[in-house]
Amino acid sequence: MKTNLTKLSLSAIALLVMATNAMATPTEAPKAYPDGELGRMVKLGEDILNNTNTHPLTKELVGNKLQCKSCHLKGSDGKPGTGLGISTFIGTATSFPAYSKREKSIQSLQDRINNCFMRSMNGKRPIIDTEASVAMATYVTWLSTDMPMKMNPKIPCSPLNADRWMNGAKHFAKIQKKATHENYVNGQKLYETKCAACHGKNGAGVGAFPPLWGKNKKGEWLAYNTGAGMSKLNKGAAWVQSNMPMGQGGTLKDQEAADIMLYVDAQERADFDLKKGLLPADKMGYYNSKVLKETHSVRSNFKQFGLDIDKIRGDKKIK
Ligand code: HEC
Ligand code: HEC
Repeated sequence: MKTNLTKLSLSAIALLVMATNAMATPTEAPKAYPDGELGRMVKLGEDILNNTNTHPLTKELVGNKLQCKSCHLKGSDGKPGTGLGISTFIGTATSFPAYSKREKSIQSLQDRINNCFMRSMNGKRPIIDTEASVAMATYVTWLSTDMPMKMNPKIPCSPLNADRWMNGAKHFAKIQKKATHENYVNGQKLYETKCAACHGKNGAGVGAFPPLWGKNKKGEWLAYNTGAGMSKLNKGAAWVQSNMPMGQGGTLKDQEAADIMLYVDAQERADFDLKKGLLPADKMGYYNSKVLKETHSVRSNFKQFGLDIDKIRGDKKIK
């Protein structure tokens, strides 16, 4: 009788611990959509995150062949942004409003989402409070259901991403600053064995697998531009180490992830000019940033780490 009772209370404690853990950090989206109009907006946001470059509400604002879920990966529930690698959307909404060093302002979740259109999506920033903008923020907020609020005074991202981004960026910056042409050659070799089957030897993507660089035959850019987090040699390496090869996140050694992204981010991609990412002044609405001028190129992204793109590549193919 006594042992039975102990067993019973032990399993009760185990259940409680499991329940508390589950509440603190969910690992998937809530089981059911909200009712009514709120549920419709969650579903609309989910649809946009899955089909960003073809969705009628956002296709005009996208300048490549990517979707939000290309980087904010699907998790075990099949929903965009629930993948638990670095850049998950679980917990993201709990950090906003949050400070952003890049804009030197307090960003709303809509601000943060819409800025990805100018950079990762190589397109134009949607207007705040339009249906697409509200829908995306509604979906991302839904993924933090039951999580405690904790506005972030330092970095505009999920508590599950913050340390991984900050530590990863610092760690990989140190490695990338020492890069040479040999690292580039090694990166190319690794890319061709570990990545090219899905992303193409020429970076253009294979079937449903997304592109990483370059243009198509029509001259349209395929992937993220030089203002995107992924185009920075340190952040790109941190993301790839956590998430790629698909289904094998966490298997690349530090130097391997660094060399592969040294190679990938040394290829041709669209230059970033903040002015081109903003709609004309009469259409744009308010742009919440104290920084109104910002440009980047492949060359300047290498220079940021003290590297000369011509020496790293061993040719002069990048302008
Ligand atoms: C090419 C990859 C890529 C694509 C595509 C992309 N993002 Fe991101 N996103 C990133 C990276 C990298 C970061 C972190 C960047 C940083 O902090 O510099 C980020 C950060 C964010 C954040 C901050 C959240 C957090 O918890 O880290 C939000 C919100 C966000 N993206 C929304 C979107 C939405 C919505 C789309 C589609 C319109 C999108 N992103 C498309 C790469 C991408
Ligand atoms: C088995 C196929 C596969 C392999 C191998 C693979 N990836 Fe991916 N990768 C994907 C898929 C699929 C996505 C996008 C997920 C989605 O759309 O749901 C992706 C997304 C990406 C992205 C962000 C989206 C973009 O197009 O910019 C980058 C960067 C990336 N992979 C780099 C790599 C690198 C580097 C390697 C090798 C270390 C690699 N991948 C290996 C399938 C693969």
